[in-house]
Amino acid sequence: MLTVKGLNTEYPSLKGPPVKAAQDVAFEVPAGKFFTLLGPSGCGKTTTLRSIAGLERPVGGEISVNGRLVYSAEKKIFIPPNQRNFGMVFQSYAIWPHMTVFANAAFPLEVRKTKLSKKEIRDKVMRVLSAVALDQYAEREATRLSGGQQQRLALARALVMEPELLLLDEPLSNLDAKLRDRMRFELKRIQRELGLTTIYVTHDQGEALALSHEIAVMNEGRIVQVGAPRDIYDHPRTKFVADFIGTTNFIDGVALGQDSTSGRWNVRTPVGDLLVHTDQTLAANMRVTVSIRPEDVELLEEPAAANGYNLVSGLVDQKVFLGDMVDFQVKVDDYILLSRAHPSLRTPIGDRIYIRMNPEKCVAIPDTSPARAAA
Ligand SMILES: Nc1ncnc2c1ncn2[C@@H]1O[C@H](COP(=O)(O)OP(=O)(O)O)[C@@H](O)[C@H]1O
Ligand SMILES: [Mg+2]
Repeated sequence: MLTVKGLNTEYPSLKGPPVKAAQDVAFEVPAGKFFTLLGPSGCGKTTTLRSIAGLERPVGGEISVNGRLVYSAEKKIFIPPNQRNFGMVFQSYAIWPHMTVFANAAFPLEVRKTKLSKKEIRDKVMRVLSAVALDQYAEREATRLSGGQQQRLALARALVMEPELLLLDEPLSNLDAKLRDRMRFELKRIQRELGLTTIYVTHDQGEALALSHEIAVMNEGRIVQVGAPRDIYDHPRTKFVADFIGTTNFIDGVALGQDSTSGRWNVRTPVGDLLVHTDQTLAANMRVTVSIRPEDVELLEEPAAANGYNLVSGLVDQKVFLGDMVDFQVKVDDYILLSRAHPSLRTPIGDRIYIRMNPEKCVAIPDTSPARAAA
C-alpha cells in the first residue's frame, strides 16, 4: 500500500551544513494497517510524515501509494499535497469556531473542485460524523464541544474526503490523560471499522504499543528497529530501543559461549552467569548488555529448584508500593535489580530474596559503542 524507500529530507540551516532530519528512511505499510513512527522529540517523525504528505520536499528517495509514485528523486516526480488524497490530523488541529459541527466536517467537500449535490454532501458528512460518534451533535456550534469531541471532529474532517491514507501527527497529545486513554480506543475502533491505512506519529511508547500493528522506532533521523509491538518490547536490538520502550534493567556482561543443549548463549555478568536470548550474532568474549524488564525479574521468598532458569539471590534494598504492584530494588552484590512484583509479596527491606529470570526474557544486545569496545 504505502512504500517509502531511501527517504532523505533536509532543512537548510543558517550556518553550517543542512539538518539531515530524515535519513535513509524505508518502510512498507500493507493496506488497512496501523503503522507508527515512534521516537523522542526531534528524531524526525514529523519530517517523515510531512514528506509523505508532500508538505516537505525530500532530497532523495521514493514514496509510492498503491503503486502510484507520489515522489521520486530519480524520476523527478513530486505530486503536490492536494493531489495525493491523504487525510491529515495534527497535534494543533484547528476547528472553525463560528461553524457548526456539520459545517466543519463538510468544509473540505464544499471547497472541492468537483462539486457534489447537497444530498451527497449530507450523506458523506453524516456517515463520518457517526463513525466518530458525533452525529447527534451535527447542529451544535463546534466550540461547544469538549476537547475529545473536537479532536474527533478534526478526524471526521480528515476522513470526509475518503483518503487513501490517513496521516496522524501526535493527535492526542493536547488531551488530558483520561481523555487520551479513551480516544486511543476510539481511534483504534474507527481505524479498524473503516479499514484505514494509517501512519501515526507519537513520542509516547504506551500509545504506540496500544494502537499499532507495527512500530518503527526512530532515533536521530533514522529508523533503528521495525516490528510488531510485542516483538519490539520483548526483543529490542539496541540499548536505545530497550530503554525507550518501557523500563528495563541493563546488566553489562561478556559472552562466554553457547550452551550445547539449549543453544542459548551464556553471559558472565556481575550478578552471575546468565543464559540469554539473542536474535543477533554473538562471539565468545564479545561485550554485551543484557536487558531484562522489571516484570520478568521474578522474586521468590524461598530458593527455587534449578530448572534451567537463571537463579540469583540478593537483599531487598528499597520498595515502592504502587497499589496494583510493588517495585522492589534488590541488591545483588553491588548491582541493583529492579523488579515489579505482585503486592502480595511482603518481604521486608534488608531480607534475603531469591530471583528467577527466564532466559527467553534476558535479551543480549551486542555492545557496538566504540567507547566501551575500546575500554
Ligand atoms: N522547518 C524546519 N527548519 C529547520 N529545521 C527543522 C525544521 N523542522 C524540523 N527541523 C529539525 O529537524 C529535526 C527533526 O524534527 P522533527 O521531524 O520535527 O522531529 P519530531 O517530529 O520527531 O520531533 C530536528 O532537529 C528539528 O530541529
Ligand atoms: Mg513532531
